[in-house]
Amino acid sequence: MPNEKTQKKTIPFIQAKKEKKEKIVAITAYDFPVAKIVDQCGIDLILVGDSLGMVVLGYENTIPVTMEDMIHHTRPVVFASKSALVVGDMPYFSFHLSNEESVYNASRFLKEAGASAVKIEGASKKRLKLVEALVEAEIPVMGHVGLTPQSIYHFGQFKVKGKEIDEAENIVQDALSLEKAGVFSVILECIPMEVARIITEKLEIPTIGIGAGPYCDGQILVFHDLVGFSNGYLPKFVKKYVDIHEVISRAVKGYIDDVKKGTFPDSNCSYHFKSEKLDELIKNEDQKRGKKKK
Ligand code: KIV
Repeated sequence: MPNEKTQKKTIPFIQAKKEKKEKIVAITAYDFPVAKIVDQCGIDLILVGDSLGMVVLGYENTIPVTMEDMIHHTRPVVFASKSALVVGDMPYFSFHLSNEESVYNASRFLKEAGASAVKIEGASKKRLKLVEALVEAEIPVMGHVGLTPQSIYHFGQFKVKGKEIDEAENIVQDALSLEKAGVFSVILECIPMEVARIITEKLEIPTIGIGAGPYCDGQILVFHDLVGFSNGYLPKFVKKYVDIHEVISRAVKGYIDDVKKGTFPDSNCSYHFKSEKLDELIKNEDQKRGKKKK
């Protein structure tokens, strides 16, 4: 439930939405101004995704993203989020060695950045043990199955997972195992909508889809994709609600034109000296110039 004093959305609130058949609406954010806008719009959950690496830091994939990057970007999102639940995404190799080190890294999202939960990709046996260890350490965890971008070198390319029976069955099993291990919800990325439906019906915890069709309990999109920040390739599952690339380009080109033509700044955009003292100021400065010339 949202905490009554702060109206902050909580994990039980997010989970109750599944029971009430109300959709969970999630989005990514990586900084204060965007988090503030999406929070004020009424988003339920903000994921500070390691997609940060691709949409903000300019990397080709999410592999180079570090714990320091994630903490640095999660903190302002938490500051801005008065209502949304904030989840921090554990970057590649922050949860791949010992459980001890992984739990410590996860704890930094809560202690240093103020997030309410962490997300980890995958559902290997080792990963499931880690979920148990995180839950044991009072760190709520969100799972992530289907296309898991941190496995890019393993997969070879970003493409839909679970199109064949074996792979689909594995993804269903992964989601069930994560639920058993204790995750509070699970992201389903880039899988056929029919497979997402089976998982959503089997799980008691909410499923949040991205490229997983309409039957998930909730949806998440990368903020920069849905506002059209990039004018490059976008996956089929993205709906671009505005072309912010075009809006920003138009504004910046207008600014360039105005400065070049001298139409910006005009008098309205400028500060003014007191008119009754202006003559005196000019006279004084002229006199100083006259003295210098002599
Ligand atoms: O990093 C991210 O933004 C994600 C979402 C795509 C779910 O993991």
